[in-house]
Amino acid sequence: MKILVTGGAGYIGSHTVVELLNANHDVIVVDDFSNSNPKVLKYIKEITKKDFVFIEGSLLDKALLDNIFKNNKIDVVIHFAGYKAVGESVKKPLMYYDNNLISTIYLLEIMEKYKVYNLAFSSSATVYGTPKKLPITENMTLHTTNPYGTTKLMIETILNDLKKSNEKWSIALLRYFNPIGAHESGLIGEEPNGIPNNLMPYIVEVASGKLKELKIFGNDYDTKDGTGVRDYIHVVDLAKGHVSAINYVNNNVGVEAFNLGTGIGYSVLDIVKSFERVNNVTIPYKIVERRPGDIAECYADVTKAKKMLDWSAEKTIDDMCRDAYQFILKNKD
Ligand code: UFG
Repeated sequence: MKILVTGGAGYIGSHTVVELLNANHDVIVVDDFSNSNPKVLKYIKEITKKDFVFIEGSLLDKALLDNIFKNNKIDVVIHFAGYKAVGESVKKPLMYYDNNLISTIYLLEIMEKYKVYNLAFSSSATVYGTPKKLPITENMTLHTTNPYGTTKLMIETILNDLKKSNEKWSIALLRYFNPIGAHESGLIGEEPNGIPNNLMPYIVEVASGKLKELKIFGNDYDTKDGTGVRDYIHVVDLAKGHVSAINYVNNNVGVEAFNLGTGIGYSVLDIVKSFERVNNVTIPYKIVERRPGDIAECYADVTKAKKMLDWSAEKTIDDMCRDAYQFILKNKD
């Protein structure tokens, strides 16, 4: 299939492009490098020994989008492009609503114009807000706690309305849990700007000596050891989930949401211990106050993805910790 990947140079996007090329799809990437690095394109080619089309630009550029669809017979779009930092979205809500919503609307308008109705959308488990029960199933009530999450939920709503307007639409809402790790080549991985907000990028910077110690946000949650529990998924497993999702949308119609996680919850201390063991390092840490907005526990029921996408995550928490660190060691400079 010919697949347009928006935000294909980003963390999850780049790993997905690798898996799409490995599965012999034709890929066109559009990215404006607002939160990614051009060298990633070279590394994707090095890993896969395959080529793809790259177009530098923003989805807010309607003429650019129109040209892409005019010049290519696209079968499916995977839409990753968008701002994704929770804290930043609280400080700059308009920037998030403007960029994430408008670019998606432009993309959908062009898809309609060129009668391309197959889409996999990069959503997030953040749409479940504070879950009322665990594990989280796709039919649970949705609500959000920050503007970033609200943009994801608003886009899911738009996509549901779109399907009601035209039954040809086939859309997979892919709700990611906590993607971590890196490609086993060590060539592509997560490269946050500035001091990382998320757990794994923070731990790797402590391990490599860039940061002094990890601050664990609370050890008084109602969890097995008091620290927060999440469903961490290896980014390569997540990327493979997208390959399954495009096959699904290509053969079905309607809108379906899928949890992409492992179904297993690990605490912050579990991650620290695993990281120390597999990488033979020590992670100094200190327990501090809870982080505002954090929930105690979050993990997925992954039955639906297994059944309908014929996909499930395979890599272990040790794989995730090892690959995340190897990427940093290889890219220290
Ligand atoms: N944590 C720490 N110290 C840190 C960073 C995180 O103790 O320095 C803890 C958090 O309190 C939490 C766990 O590690 O218990 C995971 O935190 P992350 O920031 O890595 O991830 P979140 O679960 O908070 O958020 C992630 C994504 C969001 C997405 C959400 C969906 O970052 O984009 O999952 O579930 F919306």
